[in-house]
Amino acid sequence: MPEVQPYPERVKICCLGAGYVGGPTMTVIAKFCPDIKVTVCDLNEKRIAAWNSDSLPIYEPGLKEVVDESRGRNLFFSTDIDAAIRDSTIIFVSVNTPTKKSGVGAGEAADLTYWELAARQIAAVCNASDDKSPKIIVEKSTVPVKTADAMAQVMAASCLSTNLQVLSNPEFLAEGTAMDDLFRPDRVLVGGAQTPQGLAAIDYLCKVYRRWVPTEQVLTMNLWSAELSKLTANAFLAQRISSINSVSSLCEATGANVAEVAHAIGVDTRIGPKFLKASVGFGGSCFQKDILNLVYICRSFGLPEVAQYWHQVILMNDHQKNRFAKKIVSSMFNTVSGKKIAILGFAFKKDTGDTRETPAIDVCKALLQERAQLSIFDPEVSREQITVELGQEEMELVETPGDVNASCAGAHALAIITEWDVFKSLDYQRIYESMSKPAFIFDGRNMLDHDKLEEMGFKVFTIGKGKKQPDIDDS
Ligand code: NAD
Ligand code: UDX
Repeated sequence: MPEVQPYPERVKICCLGAGYVGGPTMTVIAKFCPDIKVTVCDLNEKRIAAWNSDSLPIYEPGLKEVVDESRGRNLFFSTDIDAAIRDSTIIFVSVNTPTKKSGVGAGEAADLTYWELAARQIAAVCNASDDKSPKIIVEKSTVPVKTADAMAQVMAASCLSTNLQVLSNPEFLAEGTAMDDLFRPDRVLVGGAQTPQGLAAIDYLCKVYRRWVPTEQVLTMNLWSAELSKLTANAFLAQRISSINSVSSLCEATGANVAEVAHAIGVDTRIGPKFLKASVGFGGSCFQKDILNLVYICRSFGLPEVAQYWHQVILMNDHQKNRFAKKIVSSMFNTVSGKKIAILGFAFKKDTGDTRETPAIDVCKALLQERAQLSIFDPEVSREQITVELGQEEMELVETPGDVNASCAGAHALAIITEWDVFKSLDYQRIYESMSKPAFIFDGRNMLDHDKLEEMGFKVFTIGKGKKQPDIDDS
């Protein structure tokens, strides 16, 4: 049996990538393990400066308090990546892995450029260092199956002197609830090589999580199972949303109510009630990217039927976003040209400022194509960020007054895209009076009291509620 090189008793951790995953996950490790030094690094100086300030680079409820508790004690944010790698035994890699924009697999496969650069940097630092103690590289980013294996080969080839083990430890946090998800995860996955050194590395990392996660929820497995579990967990979640959204279309056609149908389905304990909320479509940086990646992998392994099956989840989501935009236009007498439409919410879900793949992009672009005048309000998204998503040219027809009532005043229609709690308690009577008539509401999140709004005089359109809606051809 090969000799196992022991890992040091005193654990030191660093993380490459101080984004939505790296920042919160490391902050929580630092909280529960005050004796472990945790350094979070990024190439982006502005991002690190923000982590070191009172104004954190991401909006996540509860995050600031936990950062304040540990920052400067055992939690550090730095751009000195080489020093952090040298100083640490466990090196998390939580860099972005977007969908490839060009070359083989463009539009589907994951772009691993950042991951590979990080891996090569780790190898180079280890090569140059006199300290030859073993290191554990932890794949935190969501990556295709066999990435860890490929990275281990890249590193082994460029760094012969240090024992480097690569583990897969995918992250399941959802934005907006990240702190709670990290405090009480359903499970933590740690995959690694099933060799004596691999098993020792798995155990070393598991011991960190076991400080606050019950042992039976820290699952260990081989590398490929861990990698595939992450992609398929996201695919299953997104599939539920596309399934209920497909039902929402049928509800509108038949006069059924999707909320009632979802409830009836979800009380079956075999199905469960979560992720059955019909909406304008799912967004976020993960679902679409990870499913496209899964589709690409299936095709690469010669499984076109499996690829097609999962691809349908994305097609259904695109259909739902388009359907919503079309419904706005067709209900407003087939023209929105020159009409003011208030867009309530731009983030991909509530309690985050993240706009990556938000359905608001598709809805706004479709309305702008029809020459509507948009007034966008989101409590956490700046005009600058909206401009990044819609493009400078499109902003000619977009105003962002920064006040929800100002966005609604004089509008012909309100379109709710994000389910921010604040939208539930607006004074809709006052808003109605300030609007052009007939005043429309398109509730893309089914979150308002529609009967009450109708009593006020609004023409209400919702996702998946058929009975009170006039016949509209949304084909
Ligand atoms: P992000 O874009 O917010 O952050 C990634 C950061 O990595 C950026 O700040 C970037 O500057 C930095 N970076 C890139 N290359 C680097 C390098 N070589 N060294 C140091 N820093 C580098 O991305 P994110 O949302 O945190 O996602 C990271 C990974 O986690 C992705 O693979 C994603 O799929 C996965 N994931 C994301 C979520 C989520 O909710 N956002 C949840 C689970 C998993
Ligand atoms: C997701 C996964 O939930 C998480 O485990 C993974 O680590 C990252 O990807 P996230 O994208 O942050 O998390 O948020 P999530 O709560 O999953 O919502 C994704 C999208 O689906 C949002 O646009 C949300 O509004 C939408 N959604 C969610 C619905 O439309 N209906 C639902 O019932 C649930």
